[in-house]
Amino acid sequence: MPTLVVAGLQWGDEGKGKVVHLLSKKFDYIVRYQGGNNAGHTVVFEGREFVLHLIPSGILEKGKKCIIGNGVVVDPESLVDEINFLEKKGIEIKNRLFISDSSHIILPYHKILDGIREKIQNIGTTKKGIGPCYADKVSRSGIKMCDYLDSKTFAALVEKNLKEKSKVLGNISAIKKEIFRKYPGIASKIRKYVTDVSILINDQISKNKRILFESAQGTLLDVDFGTYPYVTSSNPVAGGVCTGCGIGPTKIDKVLGVVKAYTTRVGEGPFPTELKDDTGDFIQQKGKEFGATTGRPRRCGWFDAVAVRYAVMLNGCKEIVLTKLDVLDELEKIKICIGYKYSGKIFERFPSSREVIQEVKPIYIELTGWQKSIKGITQFNNLPFNAKKYVKKIEQLVGAKVSLISNGRSREETIRL
Ligand code: GDP
Ligand code: IMO
Ligand code: MG
Repeated sequence: MPTLVVAGLQWGDEGKGKVVHLLSKKFDYIVRYQGGNNAGHTVVFEGREFVLHLIPSGILEKGKKCIIGNGVVVDPESLVDEINFLEKKGIEIKNRLFISDSSHIILPYHKILDGIREKIQNIGTTKKGIGPCYADKVSRSGIKMCDYLDSKTFAALVEKNLKEKSKVLGNISAIKKEIFRKYPGIASKIRKYVTDVSILINDQISKNKRILFESAQGTLLDVDFGTYPYVTSSNPVAGGVCTGCGIGPTKIDKVLGVVKAYTTRVGEGPFPTELKDDTGDFIQQKGKEFGATTGRPRRCGWFDAVAVRYAVMLNGCKEIVLTKLDVLDELEKIKICIGYKYSGKIFERFPSSREVIQEVKPIYIELTGWQKSIKGITQFNNLPFNAKKYVKKIEQLVGAKVSLISNGRSREETIRL
């Protein structure tokens, strides 16, 4: 499979980091196509734990090349921190990282604006400046990586942007001073990685190189298809790869969705199957459901087949990876949401209206748990009967085949089907 998109199908944190790292062995390039350092992708291998925010998870696989596409928003300071962190841990970055000259950069004022807007909007953002940076991009006042590397253009654009934003930001002189003191130095550290990555990717595809595209966030956080306005500001759906990297849709061979065996969400916003009880607390503790970027506790709930079926459709995936099945080991009963009730009507489709999704009541089926540890199992047939039944039920409800099951944090803890 020369090109593969690995996309999150819920509200993020599905275990994309583990899956991408596991699959990266078979690929030449691993590419991020959207989002920024709001992402937190955890990879556990050889007894070590890494959390990647901006650099693709494939960087941890020796020799693999990694690309940050034009659809990503790059915080130069946090990028340099991540490079330094990885190098200190013995991960070589030289000649392995390529950053799009058309990616947009996040500056300190984007983070300040994110904080200001949060006071009004209360989305529960990561406060990394993601929304304001994408807003600048779309409103045509953003600063592209190539503008940043040209000191004259950069200075002029910063002046113009700060002037425009001064009404909201108040005193801009301290912000300006900080930018002009710090950012030219940071630019000199990242210049060597910057190139036209769309040309690079298209060239490599024509040479039949194997390319894996790694989504950040998940479909239900997609700005077009997620639970708007409680979403991120980019397109994590597989379609985002085309605009986020500059490749045509005919160049994508396969899409693999990543789904947790239950549901989590960080931040505010509707969550029909949320459990605000002991079972929710149990899943949170057992699944170590605390944000990899902000440390916030993740809200937990039952598997929502309505939402995942919708995500399967939007991403066009025929196969999914089911992660964290082991977290459900001890439960006596496990529920799956198969529909929503709202205003006397039954919905089998995920609604677009913010009013409706906020108010729907889940309709559940209940399955008997397997109440046995599945740690160490590597063959589907060796799973307890009720665990197999749970997996098969999910397949049937979401309309995609489960091709991998993850039953632990390390890549060895994986069951291929
Ligand atoms: P991502 O953002 O999609 O990459 O996911 P995160 O890294 O934010 O969150 C997933 C968390 O679950 C990480 O701490 C992983 O190490 C962990 N994890 C991944 N797969 C499994 C699994 O199958 N079982 C368990 N128990 N933990 C897992
Ligand atoms: P990964 O890639 C889970 C959520 C935030 C907030 C909303 C908007 O690790 O799956 P933003 O800072 O993007 O403007 O915040 O999106 N969010 C994530 N939730 N996983 C993520 O990334 C997320 N990135 C953003 O919590 O609700
Ligand atoms: Mg995460």
